Amino acid sequence: MKNIKIAGVVILTLFFALQLIQPEKTNPKSDPALSVFQQTSVPVNVAGILQTSCRDCHTHNTIWPRHSYVSPVSWFVNYDVRNGRSELNLSLWGEYEKQKAWVLLDEICKQVSAGHMPPGRYLLLHRDAKLDDRDKTAICGWTESAKIKYQE
Ligand code: HEC
Repeated sequence: MKNIKIAGVVILTLFFALQLIQPEKTNPKSDPALSVFQQTSVPVNVAGILQTSCRDCHTHNTIWPRHSYVSPVSWFVNYDVRNGRSELNLSLWGEYEKQKAWVLLDEICKQVSAGHMPPGRYLLLHRDAKLDDRDKTAICGWTESAKIKYQE
């Protein structure tokens, strides 16, 4: 009994100590004119899908959920956002070179078609972000027509 109590105290103390290590949650300000929604013509339905399913990790408009304030969950969420933005940043779309933009559009269709994006771990707590076949077709329709602008 005593050991269980000690273990409990240790675990609680650790949990509270972990809360002190809190990564910074940023939504950097960026020129709205650089956003993919300004740079390419995104059909309304596709814009909705990108907002619901991709925004949190691939834009500067992340909605940081309550669990993103609790360590160690916050570390993983933060890691995703940092990595997601660095691979594909829809808020800084206008900064991509033509060829890079083309490849990213191509990659967007591939990643969603293969079911890699949004990641399964994200869907656990964001059910509405799950894409059905119609969503995927709509996204690929958009990327195909948006690519034309970036073709050499
Ligand atoms: C939970 C956060 C999260 C969500 C939501 C998310 N992504 Fe990602 N995405 C990442 C991370 C992290 C990476 C980089 C590492 C990897 O590939 O897993 C990534 C990588 C990518 C890449 C690869 C870029 C490259 O050059 O290889 C594409 C394309 C992409 N995501 C598209 C999307 C699209 C489209 C959506 C919405 C349908 C989406 N992602 C939703 C986190 C996310």
